[in-house]
Amino acid sequence: MSEWNQEDENIRTRMLSVVDDQTLDWMQRKSVPFIRLMSYYKCAMMEIETKFNVLNEEYSLEFDRNPINSIKTRLKSPRSIKEKLERRGFDFTLASIEENLNDIAGVRVICSFPEDVYSLSRALLIQDDVTLIEKKDYIKNPKPNGYRSLHLIVAIPIFLAHEKRLMKVEIQLRTIAMDFWASLEHQLCYKKDYEFTSEMAKELYLCANLSAELDMRMDGLLKQTRENKNAPERPDDGKERRDI
Ligand code: GTP
Ligand code: MG
Repeated sequence: MSEWNQEDENIRTRMLSVVDDQTLDWMQRKSVPFIRLMSYYKCAMMEIETKFNVLNEEYSLEFDRNPINSIKTRLKSPRSIKEKLERRGFDFTLASIEENLNDIAGVRVICSFPEDVYSLSRALLIQDDVTLIEKKDYIKNPKPNGYRSLHLIVAIPIFLAHEKRLMKVEIQLRTIAMDFWASLEHQLCYKKDYEFTSEMAKELYLCANLSAELDMRMDGLLKQTRENKNAPERPDDGKERRDI
């Protein structure tokens, strides 16, 4: 017996000490379709991640820089799925998950510059196997707390042995500065047992504005590098530079 099966058998034996065999079989029958659905979401997430990696590769060859700083993926946990469905008054069934939740599979693309967010999003959405379901532009219209990111819900096909299945994926595109703010805001505000005063919220909002200004100035610098590339060389160009 392999190590894996031995572990399965150990768990089964422990479970049998608290539930009967029939109940155990029922639990297994119920969980297999759920695990299968989650694996479909995982496949869709991998498809989207690959699409972004391909775009990053192409850009880096063409423009000699990487528009993507990093990509993070996450599959919503069964507990979060159940809680979200219950909060919204929906049943916890497979059909309900597919119909009512758009963020089981999540892909977060951290970009270098704000213009990368839009060019990557455009490049993804013109692909003929990607269907846009919903778009929320929190960069053009930030949330009242200052949160900025471009959110897309897309449907993408996954090709299985005997069928093609359309799966939904939530994509969040943001710059490093936007991600920095969102990560720290999450740490400060999410499920904490202290009071987050309106003064603190104001300060956090000011920090979001600072990060937006940083992005704008960096985008400006990027544009200048392009303008300077096409500018004629100065007569003294190179003379004052020393090769290191
Ligand atoms: P959810 O129930 O949270 O999915 O809300 P929604 O369906 O209205 O989606 P929305 O597009 O507004 O936000 C979805 C995701 O964006 C969240 O799960 C977070 O990952 C991120 N997000 C949205 N607002 C904030 C925010 O104020 N702060 C941070 N840190 N993240 C946010
Ligand atoms: Mg969500």
